[in-house]
Amino acid sequence: PYSAADRGWLRYEPRDSLQGLPVWSRIFVSEWSDTVEAAVRELRYGIREMSGQSPDIVVGGESLAQGAFIRCATVRESLPNELHSDLPLQDLNEEGYLLKHVADKENGGCLYIVGRTDKGILYGAFHLLRLLQMEVPAERIDLVENPRNPLRMMNHWDNMDGSIERGYAGRSIFFKDQRLIEDDGRIRDYARLMASIGINGISINNVNVHEAETRLITAEYLPQVARVAGIFSAHGIRLFLSINYASPMQLGGLATADPLDSGVRQWWKEKAEEIYRYIPDFGGFVVKADSEHRPGPFTYNRTHADGSNMLAEALAPYGGVVIWRCFVYNCMQDWRDRATDRARAAYDHFKPLDGQFRDNVILQIKNGPMDFQVREAVSPLLGAMPQTNQMLEFQITQEYTGQQKHLCYLVPQWKDVLDFDTYARGEGSTIQRVASGELYDYKHCGITAVINVGDDENWTGHTLAQANLYGYGRLAWNPDLSEAEITEEWIKQTFGTHAAVVEQLTTMLAESWRIYENYTSPLGVGWMVNPGHHYGPNVDGYEYSVWGTYHFADCHGMGVNRTVKDGTGYTGQYFAENAERYESLDSCPDELLLFFHHVPYTHRLHSGKTVIQHIYDSHFEGADGVEALIERWRLLEGLVDPKRHEAVMGRLRHQAEHSKEWRDIINTYFYRKSGIGDELKRMIY
Ligand code: GCU
Repeated sequence: PYSAADRGWLRYEPRDSLQGLPVWSRIFVSEWSDTVEAAVRELRYGIREMSGQSPDIVVGGESLAQGAFIRCATVRESLPNELHSDLPLQDLNEEGYLLKHVADKENGGCLYIVGRTDKGILYGAFHLLRLLQMEVPAERIDLVENPRNPLRMMNHWDNMDGSIERGYAGRSIFFKDQRLIEDDGRIRDYARLMASIGINGISINNVNVHEAETRLITAEYLPQVARVAGIFSAHGIRLFLSINYASPMQLGGLATADPLDSGVRQWWKEKAEEIYRYIPDFGGFVVKADSEHRPGPFTYNRTHADGSNMLAEALAPYGGVVIWRCFVYNCMQDWRDRATDRARAAYDHFKPLDGQFRDNVILQIKNGPMDFQVREAVSPLLGAMPQTNQMLEFQITQEYTGQQKHLCYLVPQWKDVLDFDTYARGEGSTIQRVASGELYDYKHCGITAVINVGDDENWTGHTLAQANLYGYGRLAWNPDLSEAEITEEWIKQTFGTHAAVVEQLTTMLAESWRIYENYTSPLGVGWMVNPGHHYGPNVDGYEYSVWGTYHFADCHGMGVNRTVKDGTGYTGQYFAENAERYESLDSCPDELLLFFHHVPYTHRLHSGKTVIQHIYDSHFEGADGVEALIERWRLLEGLVDPKRHEAVMGRLRHQAEHSKEWRDIINTYFYRKSGIGDELKRMIY
């Protein structure tokens, strides 16, 4: 490692399966590059830590070694026939790789890592180390991998003063005091962690681009940004920046930022040329425009297509892309107005523009139509624009799911989203096939997420929140991986292979999302958090506000009527199969009932319970569930190092207390509103 930070899942603790064995004595590579260097350094380091033996690195030499060896190669090189036989090397894509053990009596066996490019070698090296950490015998290794998503991104919401919007793990690892941090040890370790899970694009600054960050694309900062981009580059990652749509005015002194103004267009073209002089592999711009008071093309009566195409035109000569966010809605709504529905906004704004965007524009769409709630419907915009590149946005940082003080493993939630069938082109038109570009022939697409790291020693505040970071990367690489596979990989690498550790932690992670949902806002209605920072219960916190996030509870019932029949019409944005399922009370799934319908407290769920009894039961269960998490974690005392054990226990204890606060406030609120008591006569205030 380059810094003293927690190693995350790149821990490389000694492994019994590798001790005392004659492991690989040499690592052969034909050609050197920054990326190959990152790969072989990692291999040597990981193998040394796990086995106690340190292989030599041989560049350009004949791979005739005494003893076993590893050979890293690209498909351009001549390779032994065994590799060609049953493994389709020609099927490797630009980032794909083959890992194969070839037995050799004289030499003791060779492990081949073959990529189409150096990036494949890097990913292959990390994959091999993952298997070794999981104690998979080397002789059994025989696989080919290609990432399913072309773009696998992280979005930082870091500000240049070092603060992080919705950050719960310390300060920024990139910025401090309006500058980029000079000591790049932490950034290098971060790049290793990201490369190990296949991340290939990272935007380093907040989508809300304030005064200081607007200047990141000027000569004052570009040399510093280029330094970080260089570290990323060696790890197969392209750097992106969030930009201020009004830059031509703020930086260029122009009187307008109108996308159809020739002076504005010229300004951006020159700006792109300048950026690429510093950063030849610059990824492009992430843009939040006309959203939550950010500037955008609406000011000039232009569309989002006009705005994004203008930027895309400037980046096109260099292969850059514009990632344009669809989080556009009226954030000055009147709570008295029941017809306006924030959930409808993204679809209403963007769907009519399908086909009008340049092919290097990608629309970035949050997984749900509201804002990363513990449970909400899947955005109907995803899959609804056959002629426009789309990418999916998740939130790893736990803004609404416990802010990394509460344990909430989000992989199950993301799996639900990825497997959701839009029916856009008939059955099987899943979200993962939209994002990967399999459904429509997108030129650019993939998955991105708001990251949860900061400069806390353990990166994520809650050590177990590292699982969300890891799991997101693995799903972005391959959305077909199961929750169980991802969880097992993460636990074994991070906490070792002891059976009890794997068993208890697997259960804790698997149950944590449902537990959190149980004691917070019920049945998909969302919110009920304190305004502003969004932590802790406040049922009416947003009820009479401008943000468009309401539950409409009165003495009879609650929920948002989003039906076509007599509600906001939102259900009509889905393709027929889903539209019908959500429209009807008979087929609407319980967990989203209050997202789609306003019902009396006495309405009976498919589970057989009334809504009010469900609220009471789930809230008692949720708080009890946290006690059960504590019991499981207690069993791992002595099996997990004391430092991490105590730190996690501290967070769980806080969660237990806080979940009771949630439980009692929600239960009391609905008892007082409805006047209906708990059938089980438990304590409600
Ligand atoms: C949420 C979040 C903001 C963020 C915004 C966005 O509303 O609370 O902090 O800026 O999403 O995604 O742009």
